[in-house]
Amino acid sequence: MLPAEIIALKRDGRPLPPEAIAAFVQGLVDDSFSEGQVAALAMAIYLNGMSAEERVSLTTAMRDSGTVLEWDLPGPVIDKHSTGGVGDNVSLILAPALAACGAFVPMISGRGLGHTGGTLDKFDAIPGYRTSPDLDLLRRVTADIGCAIIGQTADVAPADKRLYAIRDVTGTVESVDLITASILSKKLAAGLDALVLDVKLGSGAFMKSLDEARVLAQALVQVANDAGCRTSALLTDMNEPLASAAGNALEVRNAIDLLTGSEIDSRLWDVTIALGGEALAAAGLKANAEEGASAMADALQSGRAAEIFGRMVAALGGPADILSRPQFHLPEAPVIEEIYHGDEGFIEAMDTRAIGIAVIGLGGGRRKASDKVDYRVGFDWISATGRHVDREVPIARVHAASPEAATLARRAFIDAVTVSQTPAEERPLVLERIG
Ligand code: URA
Repeated sequence: MLPAEIIALKRDGRPLPPEAIAAFVQGLVDDSFSEGQVAALAMAIYLNGMSAEERVSLTTAMRDSGTVLEWDLPGPVIDKHSTGGVGDNVSLILAPALAACGAFVPMISGRGLGHTGGTLDKFDAIPGYRTSPDLDLLRRVTADIGCAIIGQTADVAPADKRLYAIRDVTGTVESVDLITASILSKKLAAGLDALVLDVKLGSGAFMKSLDEARVLAQALVQVANDAGCRTSALLTDMNEPLASAAGNALEVRNAIDLLTGSEIDSRLWDVTIALGGEALAAAGLKANAEEGASAMADALQSGRAAEIFGRMVAALGGPADILSRPQFHLPEAPVIEEIYHGDEGFIEAMDTRAIGIAVIGLGGGRRKASDKVDYRVGFDWISATGRHVDREVPIARVHAASPEAATLARRAFIDAVTVSQTPAEERPLVLERIG
């Protein structure tokens, strides 16, 4: 079929047969679909949607547009994907903890998107760590150590790379069909047996409501399972940063503190354990998610997860003593100041997106793709909602490149936090399970 015929089918609200989808994906890779034709089809999909069968065809064709990893390992190959949030450093803790429970985790991660942080940017804060190794090194580190967290290489789902870049500038990012195919094509190319999805909702997530998050989670779970990967999703709260830190080096430090037991953020711990429990059950390593969660807790408390994290960092080029001397290796900002709210009372709500944007304002994220990231900056000591604050108790600390940047970020953080005279009701952290 000609590109124009394929576009016209979807323009008229008709389903695309698998051969039309295959031709489109081929056209993405070999440029036989022009940028205008890709944009037109993306918009037609955005407006008219896809059936479950079309979503599976698109996802698997995009998965197969590059290398699909195959494994021969003495345990299941599993992974997690988060739809993105602020202070979300779960992957740094989860991957080594799953590996400590007998799984293998080749985690292909992304950079920050919009106001959200990206796992890859966090690892780039570790001097020497190679976030773009070739697939052979990924294979070796995963097999030898149990997990490897790296970025997308040119060989993985190249069709998504081109489609995503065109969607980004044509108002077609926010399509459940296209988001599903984009996320899963990359994850499934890693040759997974099982996958757990963390679909976030709230002020710091892309999905603001439970309904929106549920629709995306259902699409992701259905397509991934139909494509042969056992998958479930948890819908989790992102109405405040998950960790008490937001910013690349600060989140690495925060994850190391949890792994080594020196300081544990309870919300981060709970979400990590819940996701890990789901993944271990889906992979068949544990009978159910509860048993999986207790295996995760044991992997963390025993120090086995920390040891695997340290070995992974060293194997990918980072310092061998990152666990014992993180302060020696992680870059530190020259200006560090405490932030006080001014009002006395209980933290009621946070505009978490605004906090993510304040991190970008400090230089800790990108306004455009070519921006250089300052890994040192961000916030830590972020108080959880419900906490009582006054003139003596800071709501956070800012880490900035200059006093001027610190002042702007302090103002933005204070504006993002609502303090009230009565404690707010506690919100559930895991709202729903889909799968
Ligand atoms: N993340 C992706 O990888 N793709 C999307 O379309 C949205 C989020």
